Amino acid sequence: MATSAPRLLLACALIAGIAVAQRVVTVQSGPLVRTEGSHVTIWCNVSGYKEGVEQDFEWSVYLPSMPEREIRIVSTAQPNYAYAIYSQRVNNKEIYVERLTRDSAMLHITKVQAKDQGLFECYTPNTDGRYLGSYSARTNLTIIADSLAVTAPAQTLSKVEGDTLQLTCEVSRTTLQHTHLSVGWYLRSPEDASAPPQELVTLSRDFVLRSGGPYRQRMAAGDLRLDKTSATAYRLTIHMLQPVDQGLLYCQATEWIQDPDDSWFAMTRKQSDKTQLRIQPTGKD
Ligand SMILES: *[C@@H]1O[C@H](CO)[C@@H](O)[C@H](O)[C@H]1NC(C)=O
Ligand SMILES: *[C@@H]1O[C@H](CO)[C@@H](O)[C@H](O)[C@H]1NC(C)=O
Repeated sequence: MATSAPRLLLACALIAGIAVAQRVVTVQSGPLVRTEGSHVTIWCNVSGYKEGVEQDFEWSVYLPSMPEREIRIVSTAQPNYAYAIYSQRVNNKEIYVERLTRDSAMLHITKVQAKDQGLFECYTPNTDGRYLGSYSARTNLTIIADSLAVTAPAQTLSKVEGDTLQLTCEVSRTTLQHTHLSVGWYLRSPEDASAPPQELVTLSRDFVLRSGGPYRQRMAAGDLRLDKTSATAYRLTIHMLQPVDQGLLYCQATEWIQDPDDSWFAMTRKQSDKTQLRIQPTGKD
């Protein structure tokens, strides 16, 4: 039986008592489950190479319909690396590699398509004289339909300072995988559309209620509430309305999935229609 050159080299090095750095390519562990149309990223890094040499990264995919066939997508080393079915999206920068450091990089697919589902491979060309260790690593990407629905009526309401307001947001999804939702209500100024929205109250993906800035005190006082009133309904209540509550109110929901590395990933985020709220001040202070 023939012994492969790298193994022989390693064996000699071990006998000689030399610590041999082996090349290790690591890719984000999968399967990664992502929604159609979302921005997908997959990181890849390499260690154990000769220090000081910038590493290159080449991405390919093996589609379920042709699991033996490598389809090249994008490379930090070679232009025009992509095979025909990916060349247009790579040329349009819808798919690209972002270099993070000299030995790590991130593949970006800005609007992932159902047909991108497959086994992704990150390959790093050898920069040392010898071959030792791994040069590529693979991870599965699963693409599911985006089923998140977030609805609240588009309406105009007039209230008087001191009144109570109740608004309900319906949030649902039909994802087969285990996912969590976070749901929040936000207020935007109708005058200044570019100003960031004010968070009123959010129920986090681990069921913790949180309130933003000036609204924290009103939640502590019991004048601001968010209640899950059914499997899909999230009801906002504001007692003792104040003139500062005037504006455009909407709810926003995010569907989260836990990746194999245990971190939570925001798969999809959507906003409801807006309620335009007018508040008539009572004049008494
Ligand atoms: C690769 O990157 C990941 C994520 O940043 C990190 O956890 C891991 O330690 C890195 N591995 C190497 C060999 O640099
Ligand atoms: C990717 O998915 C296929 C089909 O489910 C499976 O056979 C294969 O082992 C997976 N590969 C990796 C690297 O997770």
